[in-house]
Amino acid sequence: MKFIGVFTLITVVVFGVKAWSPLKNPYDLFALTHKIHTITECMDVRSEPGDYIFKKFPKRSASSRMSYVNLDQEAMEQIEEDPMTVCGLYIIGEPDTIVEVTIKQYNVNCESGGLMAFVDGWELNGEYFPSEVDHHRKLEDRVVEFCSDYRQWPKVSNKKFFKSSQNAALLQYRIPTKGFFIANVKFHKISQPCNVLVQDTDGIFQLNNYGHPWNCTIAAIFPAVVSLSSLKIGSKALRNEKVNYDCQMEDRLDIGGSGGLENSNMDKSSSVCGYSDAPGPQQALFCGTTSVRLVSSGKYSNQATVEIRKASVEDYDLATLICPV
Ligand SMILES: *[C@@H]1O[C@H](CO)[C@@H](O)[C@H](O)[C@H]1NC(C)=O
Repeated sequence: MKFIGVFTLITVVVFGVKAWSPLKNPYDLFALTHKIHTITECMDVRSEPGDYIFKKFPKRSASSRMSYVNLDQEAMEQIEEDPMTVCGLYIIGEPDTIVEVTIKQYNVNCESGGLMAFVDGWELNGEYFPSEVDHHRKLEDRVVEFCSDYRQWPKVSNKKFFKSSQNAALLQYRIPTKGFFIANVKFHKISQPCNVLVQDTDGIFQLNNYGHPWNCTIAAIFPAVVSLSSLKIGSKALRNEKVNYDCQMEDRLDIGGSGGLENSNMDKSSSVCGYSDAPGPQQALFCGTTSVRLVSSGKYSNQATVEIRKASVEDYDLATLICPV
């Protein structure tokens, strides 16, 4: 039985390696982490390391159409709509990474309503991933707001340094009239990823509690077809039994969907436990967010390998859950 664990591990390592483009020399890494990106959209989703720059100049009348330098026309119009619009740099890395954000420079005036915030996770329409109930930090500690206060002397805009707890982080900003910021983004590999956001990729993902009483969730922000490639959840006594897709145990894998990012109250399509190395059936969940949550008491070392791919109309036959629109 030991071999099964080893095999699973190898499979995961191989997939993990596949997801990364190999770096040829150390200079590549330097070039990558110092590459300069311009933020162009109000909701800008990015997964590359480097320096992200946003600038907004005061609107000049008539003659100057270039009042917003470095922004494309569309983004410009969007931001012009309402000066108090909150925009965000949505950062997402490989599943086994965390995000480090350094605010190298910023000029975001508190008095004119300017505000920035680093979020440990993603926020959309007031909903957060990871859900508050799934995170070891309280929400108020996960959201750090800051701006430049010019009543203070000497004028300082200190470097700010933030780290996320999972592969997703968000830098929010509201710059009503003028201001700018330069934020450096880096990704660091971690050995025990728990919560993972999947934004745009099909793939095979590993859930593991590493023996801890953790609840770990993989959330894909698209309607998805989910199937289990292998499973080892609950006590060893379950080993010779069939995989149970209607599990009432504390240690289980909940599969479900929700309209938005908040998935603690998701509609469940199945609760799975047991042991298996045979691929399980596919099921399609037509929801804004598809979540696979490993609930663990800490009594067992649980793990599951889950295949997630985008659902299309052809997958309607496989539907186990359709969320109300
Ligand atoms: C994990 O989830 C279960 C069921 O939702 C809950 O009872 C338990 O308190 C959670 N554990 C942690 C550490 O959040």
